Amino acid sequence: MPLETTANIWHNGKLIPWDKAQIHVMSHVVHYGSSVFEGIRCYTQPNAAGIFRLHEHMQRMLDSAKIYRMPVPYTAQQLCAAVVDVVEANGIAPCYIRPIAFRGYGEMGINPLTSPVEVYVANFPWGKYVPGNEGADVCISSWSRLAPNTMPSLAKAGANYMNSQLIRMEAEINGYSEGIALDVNGYLSEGSGENLFLVRGGVLYTTPLANSVLSGITRNSIITIAKQLGIEVVEQALPREMIYICDEAFFTGTAAEVTHLRSVDRILVADGKMGPITTAIHNEFFAIVNGLKPDRYNWLTPVNVKVPEPVGA
Ligand SMILES: Cc1ncc(COP(=O)(O)O)c(C=O)c1O
Repeated sequence: MPLETTANIWHNGKLIPWDKAQIHVMSHVVHYGSSVFEGIRCYTQPNAAGIFRLHEHMQRMLDSAKIYRMPVPYTAQQLCAAVVDVVEANGIAPCYIRPIAFRGYGEMGINPLTSPVEVYVANFPWGKYVPGNEGADVCISSWSRLAPNTMPSLAKAGANYMNSQLIRMEAEINGYSEGIALDVNGYLSEGSGENLFLVRGGVLYTTPLANSVLSGITRNSIITIAKQLGIEVVEQALPREMIYICDEAFFTGTAAEVTHLRSVDRILVADGKMGPITTAIHNEFFAIVNGLKPDRYNWLTPVNVKVPEPVGA
């Protein structure tokens, strides 16, 4: 899906034209993957638009930067204001927002500490991420997730996505929508860009942070919603075969939102249809982000963007 451009990108405190947001080929990030970034969605509600869990995303980007000793010269509040600025300046909602901080043009060599830190925020329209309206057909990847104490999984760093690319390419080449990686001990970890949830016997299971997963903000939102709906939530290491015998399975993520899994390795998950717990969680999530239910957790940051009239209104 080609990228749809917008008018402005925020760069180090200023809005610049999309085409001027360029870097030098000798920038540190190009050679050594030294970036940290976020993916955020701005949803529309009746006559309004709101950015989902903006502060948590910007805090996670600062946490990722801290792990990599990358001094970002902005606070979470300033980065939130930058996101609101660019979304309002571009006037597009719903949209996907991509803040990124990276080591720019300075010195060559692995040590990044002498290369300047650059911060950009872009936004653009973006639709469904994991294909399959009837549920996604996924596989267990032959690639494992990052081993502990190699690449930090809690940092959303550009370099981690080389592993994700291997998982995703292999899945698509073999005719699946997405791949799920195991951790180095063979336990379920996560998709190339999504957290994983399973339901068995009415209990909602998800893989814990120690199984090499990103601390997903959608994951956290779904755990909150599930508990509010009275569903028992268990975070524990899950053996691979649990996904073949579970009653329901779904991915969560900013891009994937809540995507139910129809099959794994061509084994149907139950009857392949979205099950009752996934449906309840999915409906509650979309009711909140689309403004059909009150934003009772204060997850949405309002932005002043004219929202298109719904068709038939
Ligand atoms: C590897 C990985 N896991 C999980 C997620 C889901 O995280 P979030 O819900 O914060 O988007 C993402 C997406 O950012 C991801 O890239």
